[in-house]
Amino acid sequence: MFVKKVGQLLSMSGLACMSIGMGWMTQAYSQTLDGFEKAKGCNNIAILLPESDSSARYEAYDRPLLEAGLKAALPEVTISYANANNNAATQQNQAEAALAKGACIMILDPKDSDAAGAIVSQAKASGVPVISYDRLIQSDDLAFYVSFDNFKVGELQGEWIASNYQKGDKLVMINGSQTDNNAILFREGAISKLQPLADQGEIDIVYDQYTPDWNNATAQANMEGALTKEKNDVQIAYVANDGMANSVIAALRAQQLNGKVLVTGQDATVAGIQNILTGDQGMTVYKPIPAEAQATVDLVVALVKGEDTSKIATTRVKNRNGVEIPSLLLSPVTVTKDNVADTVIKDGFVSLEEVCKGLPSGTAGLCP
Ligand code: BGC
Repeated sequence: MFVKKVGQLLSMSGLACMSIGMGWMTQAYSQTLDGFEKAKGCNNIAILLPESDSSARYEAYDRPLLEAGLKAALPEVTISYANANNNAATQQNQAEAALAKGACIMILDPKDSDAAGAIVSQAKASGVPVISYDRLIQSDDLAFYVSFDNFKVGELQGEWIASNYQKGDKLVMINGSQTDNNAILFREGAISKLQPLADQGEIDIVYDQYTPDWNNATAQANMEGALTKEKNDVQIAYVANDGMANSVIAALRAQQLNGKVLVTGQDATVAGIQNILTGDQGMTVYKPIPAEAQATVDLVVALVKGEDTSKIATTRVKNRNGVEIPSLLLSPVTVTKDNVADTVIKDGFVSLEEVCKGLPSGTAGLCP
């Protein structure tokens, strides 16, 4: 099977007539599974996700998509699922329980990108590969990382602000959780576009805080605090995701500022798209989670079958130690009122019916 795949790959890349010995193949093969001897033939997969209360995606998309994809590809598979509900110690226990019950491949979206390194080491010590799902785990023992280009997510948010601000605007930054490597990348991407504007005196960044656990109520309280401090003289709210944007909008509404302050988001949630259609939020970032889940399933299948993974994990991402992790990064997409129909609705990520629910007919020229 593996040899056939390599043959296909070689003929695809026009290298079929080159003489490449079996030694090369053995090496490529063992690189994939090096130290992860439990992976081949594995039929017990653990899926560990980080939270449910602050973000709808995990139970609404990630979990069902991963479970359905794995069952379709590997009919005999046993899947154990656990959600850490924003608690790193809980996630550690869930991981240990899964390993004790014989999980031989682990898909892990960490609550805490650093703390989860301990789980990865434990898994590796027993020959189990961990796929870092969506958030990068800071561990040199990681097998793979599957995500979106998260710096790019922040860039898209920052670019949208850069195209819509007015000179002298005051900007509040409501970032995600500092224990989430993604939240740091989102902020860095956004700042790469915003700091030059601040340096030129075009905008004024008056508030810049991480939000523990991505907690939506904390985001609202922080926005209220920023508004009070600035005597409501705020024109832009950079908000890292739609869940927090929705509560930031509530804080703005209480001051009759919703629809006047520019608000960003991420995830293309139903509530986020509704806020865009009503004009309370300017943009969101759409990340097609089905593609992220499918890529993860493809990797698991390759591991189980002992196949080459290099055509799936086509790139490398450096962790904090500079160690390169075989990775796959998908592309995020900016969504505004203008392209809701052509992106998230066209893809079936959200339906027109659900985003128009409760909105007056004719909203944004879209709702029936
Ligand atoms: C994910 C976002 C999500 C956030 C809060 C991030 O790591 O990439 O899609 O909104 O966590 O759960």
